[in-house]
Formats: sequence, structure tokens, C-alpha cells
Amino acid sequence: MAKPVALGADHGGFELKEAVKRHLEERGIEYRDFGTHTGEAVDYPDIALPPCDAVVKGECSLALLFCGTGVGISIAANKVNACCCSDVFSAKYTRMHNDANALCMGGRVVGPGLAVELVDAFLAAGFEGGRHARRVEKLAAIEARERGGRTAG
Ligand code: RB5
Repeated sequence: MAKPVALGADHGGFELKEAVKRHLEERGIEYRDFGTHTGEAVDYPDIALPPCDAVVKGECSLALLFCGTGVGISIAANKVNACCCSDVFSAKYTRMHNDANALCMGGRVVGPGLAVELVDAFLAAGFEGGRHARRVEKLAAIEARERGGRTAG
């Protein structure tokens, strides 16, 4: 059985998450909804972590994340390869070339019709590997270097 997709949204992405959820249900795609579950204000850095952890632990396959712009939650989510997309080409190729495993969307940027096309393109595409694997390894090396170099305070 396929692993579920992890969902997470702050209040700015809540409505769009609900619309995407309905789409996943129609397509018979399993998901785990990590919240938020109302339109009340919450902080997107808190919201991003649980779905990303589920992907890192292998409990979920990919993450679909939402905030007002898609940007704040994508910055928070970059412990996995998160990308913020509002066009179908990028949503597809960020899986194929960047091995992105979290798609972030802005509830104040994209409408539900476009969002489900982004989701379908993202979920249908697979990482191509090859020369792209070398580049993704370089991204991981940059991240490791950044982590090593970071100082407290
Ligand atoms: C919340 O108002 C908003 O700042 C948040 O949803 C997101 O857009 C941040 O990047």
C-alpha cells in the first residue's frame, strides 16, 4: 500500500488545504492531515515540522504544505527538499530534477483549481536521478556546510 501524503497548513493556507484534501479523496489518495484544522491564526514554522518529520521518518511519501504565500512554510520546511510553486511546469520538474518532496502553495496566491493541477503534476512525477542526483547531492552538501557553520545567537 502506498504511503500517505502529509498535509500541513497555517491559517493562510487552511482553505486551500481543505480543497486539496477533497481532491485527494476524489482520487483515492491517502493522506495524513497535520493541521491546522480551523482558520484561527497559527505560526507556520510550527506547522511545517510535523509533516516534514513524517516524510523524513518514511511514514509519509511526500508533503503538501500551505500558508498565505507558500513562501514562509517553504522556508520552514527546508529540512526536506521543499519548493514553493504556482505553475505546473515547476511543480513537475522540481520532483524530476530537484527531488523535491514537499510542495508548498500559497492560499492567497493560487486558487483551488490551479492547486489541484499542481498537486497532480507533483504527485505524478518522479526523480530522474542521473546528472540531477549529482546536483541534489551538492545541495545537500551546501546544507550540511551551512549547518556546521551556523553559530548560536
Ligand atoms: C500569515 O498571515 C502569513 O504571513 C503566512 O500565512 C505566510 O504567508 C507566510 O509566509
